Amino acid sequence: MKWTVRKFREAKGRELLPCVTAYDYLTGKIVDRAGVPLVLVGDSLCTTALGHPTTIPATMEIMLHHAAAVRRAVVNALLVGDMPFLTYTTPEQALRNAGRFLQEAGTDAVKIEGGVTHAHIIRALTGNGIPVMAHIGMQPQSVKANGYAVRGRKDSDTAQLFADLDAVVQAGAFAVTLECVMPDLAVELTKRSPVPTIGIGAGNGCDGQFLVLADLLGLGDGPLPKFAKAYANLGEQATDAVQRYAGDVRSRAFPDAEHTY
Ligand code: KIV
Repeated sequence: MKWTVRKFREAKGRELLPCVTAYDYLTGKIVDRAGVPLVLVGDSLCTTALGHPTTIPATMEIMLHHAAAVRRAVVNALLVGDMPFLTYTTPEQALRNAGRFLQEAGTDAVKIEGGVTHAHIIRALTGNGIPVMAHIGMQPQSVKANGYAVRGRKDSDTAQLFADLDAVVQAGAFAVTLECVMPDLAVELTKRSPVPTIGIGAGNGCDGQFLVLADLLGLGDGPLPKFAKAYANLGEQATDAVQRYAGDVRSRAFPDAEHTY
């Protein structure tokens, strides 16, 4: 069943929305077959797939390369491309780069980090037919300025988050990612928001959840963040498979008669 921006927006209050990331054709196939409504080619690919310590090194060229591969795999989910650091500093620059996601990689929408500060950017994109998922709360691209702390522990955070939510919704965002927000506050934001809120590290009271695929599949090599859950242990299983293959080659057990012309 094909997910559109409209269908996703209208799902609020009707069904919960499990969203995941994907980074290439292989992972795109896995998540689309699972029937999730939205797949994000997140700039988290910088850390999970490319081994960088933060998402800051992501560039348009990197993101477009990965998004185009995921596009070839994803048939039913809504496909969102994550705009990388410093590629949407002005409305003109944002339009050019978001346009590249839709035209060159074939995504259905883009995601950008920022609230009140980025409402004019979101308005420029939505006003030109580019659907935008907003991203407020903890914003990994600003980690050098603002850190990774959970938002909503201080009154000033709360006021800021409400202002950010109102600003991105009024600018036309079709959904809002809430990252690392105290759960009670995430519930209040979700009640106030006319569009779906998708939480990551924001408790279970949002309209949907994001989980980074490497965490979900148990593919990463470090400890998981507190909010992430591994539903499989594929990293260990994959290393074990490669070790068994290497052992078979060393003992001439592979290829055997069944795998030989
Ligand atoms: O890049 C990413 O993976 C994200 C998360 C919110 C899922 O932005």
